[in-house]
Amino acid sequence: MTQTHPTETLPPETLVLRGRVVTFRDNPFTCDPLDALHHEEDGAVVIRDGRIVTLGAYVDVHPDLPSDARVVHYPDSLISAGFIDTHVHYPQLPMIAAYGEQLLEWLERYTFPTESRFCDPVYAQDIARRFLAELLRCGTTTAAVFCTVHPQSVEAFFRESERIDTLMIAGKVLMDRNAPPDLRDTAQGGYDDSLALIRRWHGRGRQMYAVTPRFAPTSSEGQLELAGALLAHDDTLFMQTHLAENLAEVEWVRTLFPARRSYLDVYAHAGLVRPRAILGHAIHVDEQDLTTCHHAGCALAHCPTSNLFLGSGSFRLFDALDPKRPVRVGLGTDIGAGTSLSQLQSLNEAYKVAQGTGHRLHPVQAFWLATAGGARALHLDHRIGTIAPGMEADLCILDPAATPLQALRVQSCDSISDLLFSLMMLGDNRSVRATYVAGRLVHERD
Ligand code: GUN
Ligand code: ZN
Repeated sequence: MTQTHPTETLPPETLVLRGRVVTFRDNPFTCDPLDALHHEEDGAVVIRDGRIVTLGAYVDVHPDLPSDARVVHYPDSLISAGFIDTHVHYPQLPMIAAYGEQLLEWLERYTFPTESRFCDPVYAQDIARRFLAELLRCGTTTAAVFCTVHPQSVEAFFRESERIDTLMIAGKVLMDRNAPPDLRDTAQGGYDDSLALIRRWHGRGRQMYAVTPRFAPTSSEGQLELAGALLAHDDTLFMQTHLAENLAEVEWVRTLFPARRSYLDVYAHAGLVRPRAILGHAIHVDEQDLTTCHHAGCALAHCPTSNLFLGSGSFRLFDALDPKRPVRVGLGTDIGAGTSLSQLQSLNEAYKVAQGTGHRLHPVQAFWLATAGGARALHLDHRIGTIAPGMEADLCILDPAATPLQALRVQSCDSISDLLFSLMMLGDNRSVRATYVAGRLVHERD
């Protein structure tokens, strides 16, 4: 006679989310967007042990559900994969909406003084908690997050993310020059602190580490080389930095690194341009840079609310995605230069930036960028970004009629595309009814 442990005889709890499911089966930038969309009008997402086990029409799924399955019905709402924010600074949350400057002056005047406060672990913990709560209120379940130069800022962030069980990528900012003395590390000190944080956090539960040189002007060549040495240890590590955001910054990099062909080449020379590298902005890049990114498998983070706020310029999304040599692209809020943590607001501005560069961003393409495309940019598309059996159950429930104006607008929606478009142009955190992380409810609006 075989024996089973008593708990093994209990069926694991089954959670079923019922509603209008929107996800992707293909890349809508390389096929007809409507062919890329998977839409179930009355769908069911069956979740067990933090993972999706079934996606289908509710009528088809219902007969096979265990009798004790818990069904949560969201009539008139959309069930989507959680949003992915590929570029954001949690310590800058308190200084969002800082008036008047472009990038370099904005850093000096607002950003560096704010980041100085993160030497205090109690303050860091408080802001990390508020930041993650805000992300979940916006339906964002994964982000690539800059901390500050202080290792304790990383510790605070990962500790809070681990408590919630969100899949997060984060790292200690490396900055050994051109910054206030209390925000500077050294090449060797930054290496040692990063290595200790990697050993402690990378791959612990759902937490992952990104080696994080702030940008070329604040790192010596020696520091960039040591960042490359950290990455050379481990293919699964991420790298995040900024690239060619602002013209004065690009000119500064030219004078600091006169031997390099381009800004991107500064990073490539140090071994930083590779799969799982995330380059924020990439506005002022040329064709050769985009070709290098295509071959390297790195990602660009398009941060439209930030680029408009700082007057940085227009990211050429459709150039980056050119099917001749597509570059991976995700969407970033870039708080505190960005003006909202809501990826719906990022899509609103991405649409306008595309219009300004002569392109139409189709709503299906837009939602793909904020979910499946972001996951692909991060090489995490086997785990997150779509709703399908085996994927981790990070989901958001979107209410397209969250305000009286939206309720009026949806009355004239005659297609799923139009519904998504009204949501991305008019929506924000109020549109997020609920957020689930690894199958667990972590935010409920009402
Ligand atoms: N370039 C270097 N640091 C930063 C930053 O904190 N925000 C933005 N938007 N650009 C940067
Ligand atoms: Zn940034």
